[in-house]
Amino acid sequence: MSKFPNNFLWGGATAALQVEGAFLEGGRGWANFDTERYTPDGNLLELFSPKSREEIEFAINDKVGRYPKRHGIDFYHRFKEDIALFAEMGFKTFRLSISWPRIFPQDDELKPNEEGLAFYDAVFDELLKYKIEPLVTLSHFEFPLGLTFKQNGWESRKTIECFTRYASCVFERYKDKVKYWMTFNEINGISMSEFLCGGILAHDVINLAQVQYQAAHHQFIASALAVKACHEIIPDAQIGCMLARIEAYPETCNPLDVMESVKEDQANLFFSDVQVRGYYPSYIHKFFKENNIEIKTETGDDEILREGVVDFMAFSYYMSNIASSNTDGEMTAGNLFNSKKNPYLTTSDWGWQIDPVGLRVTLHKLYDRYQIPLFIVENGLGAKDVAEEDGSIHDSYRIDYLRSHIEQMGLAIEEGVDLMGYTPWGCIDIVSSSTNQMSKRYGFIYVDLDDEGNGTLERSRKDSFYWYKKVIETNGDVLT
Ligand code: BG6
Repeated sequence: MSKFPNNFLWGGATAALQVEGAFLEGGRGWANFDTERYTPDGNLLELFSPKSREEIEFAINDKVGRYPKRHGIDFYHRFKEDIALFAEMGFKTFRLSISWPRIFPQDDELKPNEEGLAFYDAVFDELLKYKIEPLVTLSHFEFPLGLTFKQNGWESRKTIECFTRYASCVFERYKDKVKYWMTFNEINGISMSEFLCGGILAHDVINLAQVQYQAAHHQFIASALAVKACHEIIPDAQIGCMLARIEAYPETCNPLDVMESVKEDQANLFFSDVQVRGYYPSYIHKFFKENNIEIKTETGDDEILREGVVDFMAFSYYMSNIASSNTDGEMTAGNLFNSKKNPYLTTSDWGWQIDPVGLRVTLHKLYDRYQIPLFIVENGLGAKDVAEEDGSIHDSYRIDYLRSHIEQMGLAIEEGVDLMGYTPWGCIDIVSSSTNQMSKRYGFIYVDLDDEGNGTLERSRKDSFYWYKKVIETNGDVLT
């Protein structure tokens, strides 16, 4: 008998900004990510650095640079073909995000853009035709630039009202089609990049942490209000939060290293603590004090947070990190956060430490802490694929990565963890979020497009496509 429950949601995940393209079609407004220029050396520091209005205006008017997220993989025009391939693999669910500036192009208008709404109607209808449940993220990093210029994104409390208007609008519109929702993708990203995750220009800001955590408070309130609205408008829907989970092991059994790992856990889980439990955890106040952070709140905020707790906890998991009380030693890259190197683990081509057992560790930790269903909505291996002359792609390294993670998920389920589903990231090759490369591929489906934007955009099945199809067919029983 399978370890996975019969209703386990196998599928795949994407986000609008990395797939859709058609950035100014259908009445869509400019988004923060449209201003991200591709550079061959993929300078992450530059990407995450605080932005000025001049930089953003330069990007909007730039006629020379290449901005891959404006074009994605042209899902906007090819979604029928892509969904047919997901159906062929047997997907039970497909994670996608709605592009906020497609629905409210500037977001100070009160009426939504009908063309944008109709686009997602068509996408959801196509998914439902194959009995694939849409799993929708309301805000996957993407933010309407009009609102950045008008009120500096999530720094402003006024953005809560804009977001809830947008959220209620899509709940009303898609209430018969979408039963699984998430509010903010990797909500802890705001503590790393206020522009990418909050549409905030902070070039001249002195206390950046103050701005980031104030914006997080606004997102918490907005998320809680959206949860409430979702429950009212779609009583049979479930809505979750979404965290970039960073499992940070103590470097040694030195108690100081262990304490560091407790602290890193708290820094990471602070975000889900608020969204799952409905209040700020006590440990955060010392951090706020040490960093001169003073969160401005309003009467009623506590109640909103309490009433807006989520139904499930979703998270991304790509690798594990190391927490240490000393700063010496070799470092390696990771998703959003870099880490010391773990000698027991291998790394991906991009330096992310591959750790399937860490996924099981994290599943237990999260379930012990929250006791609500968990959903792995991102996991996968960014790797360089080679298309053979006959067009085949032999991505055994990706199969190995996914197999070892699914094995650990199965064990965690046997050990009592309530896991709803699994949507590996970038189920079709997409533009990388952090590097804007196409060569960092995660997909079961190959897209003929290179880092310079050349290619036919033709889709083809990799070896992992057939493998994952079998995994779904056997409900996780056959992983070979
Ligand atoms: C997560 C994001 O942080 O990691 C995705 O939610 C992103 O949008 C994914 O694509 C993988 O990161 P990257 O940089 O390899 O695309």
